[in-house]
Amino acid sequence: MAAKFSVSAPGKIILHGEHSVVYGKKAIACAIGSRVVVDAAVSPQLQSSLVISMPSVHLNEVEIIANLTDLEEKQDVMEIVKVKCNETLQELEHTDFARIALSCILYAYYHTHRQRQNCGDKGSTVTIKISSEIPIGAGLGSSAAFNTSIACLFLIISGSVTKPGVSEKFSKITNENDLNAINSLAFELEKIVHKTPSGIDNSIATFGGAVSFQNGDIIPLSKMPTLQLLIVDTKITRSTKTLVSKVKEYADSHPDVVLPIMESLNGIATSAESLLGKLSDDSNNAQLLSEWCRLITTNQSLLKAIGVSHCALDKICFIANKYGCPAKLTGAGGGGCAIVVLDYLQNNSDSISQLRNELEMEGFGCIRASLGGDGVLVKSTQITS
Ligand code: PMV
Repeated sequence: MAAKFSVSAPGKIILHGEHSVVYGKKAIACAIGSRVVVDAAVSPQLQSSLVISMPSVHLNEVEIIANLTDLEEKQDVMEIVKVKCNETLQELEHTDFARIALSCILYAYYHTHRQRQNCGDKGSTVTIKISSEIPIGAGLGSSAAFNTSIACLFLIISGSVTKPGVSEKFSKITNENDLNAINSLAFELEKIVHKTPSGIDNSIATFGGAVSFQNGDIIPLSKMPTLQLLIVDTKITRSTKTLVSKVKEYADSHPDVVLPIMESLNGIATSAESLLGKLSDDSNNAQLLSEWCRLITTNQSLLKAIGVSHCALDKICFIANKYGCPAKLTGAGGGGCAIVVLDYLQNNSDSISQLRNELEMEGFGCIRASLGGDGVLVKSTQITS
């Protein structure tokens, strides 16, 4: 079968509950409009191979001969992934990001290979081009958007997920079993990247919208208002693991100080969930909006109190506050991104431009985003048998 597919999945932001979620408290996360897009062409060949281009990690038309017979019946998929990855990268100058991305692609490819054999696939070249609007390592779920797209692509090619009909437009996947299969393979791929991920990022990338998350339970939130945000990237890389350890060290040495803050953060996430639900029914209610905005400001102060803000994040909040907009860091902190709620300025495009200019003059990157939105999307532009 020759076919052309495109798959796309969104990044995410954490609205409330970063860090306190590690202590069993509630978190709320939402899909954003920035996405990863994977364009793929499958053509029948005697020998199977993958041709991968991913400019964001400097991989350009890297070819890997990857026959279905490479993987023996009882072999662990990760063993063959390591061998193939080493073979491919030994000749190439590459970054750690490139190695991880390649490992995820190869894992999804070999993981789904037995189904491909069962489908009667004798061999094919899969050419993949990956483009991303999501900055890497900024806490915006770039790896989950990538992994969800890759999982979806190989599950479609292997026949495990329903192929989309031919269309120029992206469409949603509506079959629940298909979505669950994509989410579960994407979670396996996230483990290659993050070792012990929470599962929140791949769930958002697969299902879209907004979720609440507590003690491993991910609950979709049916009500989310269409709020306008500015995501501001400090461009300072940070490690989630280091920041979580830093907070743990503080919590272990001063539980009486830190644990009540975690409790307050839980109160913020719980109140925000209820307020956002009401706002989605009554989007012009200024009182509800201002109550939520107060929670955003308090949330930032408490995250600063546990030591995860950064002078760049503080500067973003200061500039946003000057324009009357509440702001907070999102994700692990220590750099990465902040979110600024623009709704107060909704009808004033001059003020939004001025705010954005001021932030960009400081060297920050700005992305306009609305909350919620679609999860994984697919399209097929050509299928011939
Ligand atoms: O910045 P991110 O997307 O890695 O988010 C980290 C969120 C934390 O609560 C700090 C850690 C976690 O595993 O939930």
